[in-house]
Amino acid sequence: MHRAGGLWRRAAGGGGAAAGPGRGLGTGAGGDPGLLRASSPEVERRLRGLALVRGGFVSAGEAAELLRELEAVLGRRPYQFDHWDGAICGYRETERSRWGGAGRAVLGRVAAAFPPGRPPLPLVHVLDLHPRGHVRPHVDSVKFCGCTIAGVSLLSPSVLRLRSCRPPGHWLELLLPPGSLYVLRGAARYDFTHEILRDEESFFGGRRVPRGRRLALICRNAPHDTTPDTPGDSPAFIGDAEAPAAPQ
Ligand code: OGA
Ligand code: MN
Repeated sequence: MHRAGGLWRRAAGGGGAAAGPGRGLGTGAGGDPGLLRASSPEVERRLRGLALVRGGFVSAGEAAELLRELEAVLGRRPYQFDHWDGAICGYRETERSRWGGAGRAVLGRVAAAFPPGRPPLPLVHVLDLHPRGHVRPHVDSVKFCGCTIAGVSLLSPSVLRLRSCRPPGHWLELLLPPGSLYVLRGAARYDFTHEILRDEESFFGGRRVPRGRRLALICRNAPHDTTPDTPGDSPAFIGDAEAPAAPQ
C-alpha cells in the first residue's frame, strides 16, 4: 500500500485552525466565482478566499508534458478499487519530488497559494482516478497535513464537494475543469469534508459533468505546530498573496 493518500485521509470529522493563497485564487481574491456553488450566501461568505478554484492554471503544453511524465510512472500500475481507509475507490497513486520543466513551473506557481513560512511539502501526491473512481467525504488527517491543500486537475473535469461538519447540511461545490487549480484552507480544509463526485452523481447544479479518468497533483504543507493563529487567518494575507498566471 502506498503511503500517499492512506495517511492523509480520514473518514470524516473536523476541528482545527485556519490558513491561506494567491492571486487570484479566490472569489474576491481573484478565483473564478463561476466555478463555485454554495448552499447559501452565508456559506459562500464563510468560505470566501478559503475554498477557491481558478481555471486555466496549467497551459496545454504543460499539461501534455505532465501527462507524458506521469503516464510513464502510473501507466504500469493497476487501479485499486478497495482502500483500507475507505475514503477512495478506483485509483492509483504515487508521490513525486523530482519533476521535469513543466512540473517545476506549475508547482512553483502552486507554491504561491501557501502562506509565508508554510510552504508545500516537497513530496507531491499524484492521484489518478479511474473513470469509475471517486473520493468519498473525508478531512485530510491533521497528523500529516497542515493548513493548506492545493490541487491541480488534469484530464477529466470533476466536481469537488465540501460539506460542513457542523452544522451539517451546508455545502460548497467547486467545478474543476482540466488545467484548473483549487485551494482549500482554514475552515474549508478543517471544518468541511471534501469529496470528488462519482460519475453518476457528477453534476454542477443542473449541469452534468461527465467523469472520465482524472489526474490530480495535490500539494499539502506540514501539519500545524502549536501556534493557534496562522497568517492565513487574516484577510490581509489573502489579498497580498500573488500567484503568477499560467504561460500561454
Ligand atoms: C485526497 C483528496 C482530492 C483530489 O486524496 O485526500 O482529497 O483532488 N483528493 O483528488
Ligand atoms: Mn483529501
